[in-house]
Amino acid sequence: MTDRYLKVAIEAAKKGGIFIRRSVGKINSISYKKARNNLVTDIDKASERIIVGMLESAFPAHSFLTEENLSCDRGSSYKWVIDPLDGTSNFTRSFPFFCVSIALELDGKLLIGVIYDPMREELFWASRGKGAFLNGKRISVSKVRELADGFLATGFSYNKSKRNESLISFKRFLMRSMAVRRAGSAALDLAYVACGRFDGFWEMDLNPWDCAAGVILVEEAGGKVTKYNGYKYSHYDKEILATNQFIHKQMSKVLGMS
Ligand code: IPD
Ligand code: CA
Ligand code: CA
Repeated sequence: MTDRYLKVAIEAAKKGGIFIRRSVGKINSISYKKARNNLVTDIDKASERIIVGMLESAFPAHSFLTEENLSCDRGSSYKWVIDPLDGTSNFTRSFPFFCVSIALELDGKLLIGVIYDPMREELFWASRGKGAFLNGKRISVSKVRELADGFLATGFSYNKSKRNESLISFKRFLMRSMAVRRAGSAALDLAYVACGRFDGFWEMDLNPWDCAAGVILVEEAGGKVTKYNGYKYSHYDKEILATNQFIHKQMSKVLGMS
């Protein structure tokens, strides 16, 4: 059955992603969520309708947790966790770093994850116990052992009152690693850790749909995902530390500095 879930999730991610790619530069409406820097477009909502529509017609009894407005709790032990467009700010400026992120959980545990980058036509997926893949080829995390050689990624909350704390860790990692990137899509950042492009990623104030698919990708690619302090992580937690496992302790130590 998991194969069927994966197949439909991949079809939905591609359909949503292709729609998003065709919509670059053709946004009809942009509105603000809680803050002026937190944008949502008609394309985010339409992508969500496409993805949820496909999944719902295949699995009508399942529950949905989505970023926009199609969440639906049917009391099922299967729940789809969906970000129909991760990297909306980038998308509004045709900055080509955004994706669709779809995960399926069973009784709260991640079963599959699919992330599709429509600009590069890169399809990442993972299935519990079966590994992680990019366009059909198995992927694994990097082998970098020292934080000093680390190529890292992070992001900043839309809530500006939380940015000071992030800036402190940003500076610490900037001084201790090879480089830090802030590319604007947490889901793709995680997919990049899974395939070894990044060695580590940390961010606070995230939502389940930003992380769910990326977390299973990193884990199935041999990486490690915890809270900042190294303790057990759930995609319902706000903060995340995801690494190639080798630099995990070093990053957790920096995040715990007072
Ligand atoms: C955002 C992106 C960004 C991260 C934000 C997220 P959105 O998601 O993943 O990289 O820094 O915290 O909310 O709003 O583009 O779906
Ligand atoms: Ca997001
Ligand atoms: Ca989004």
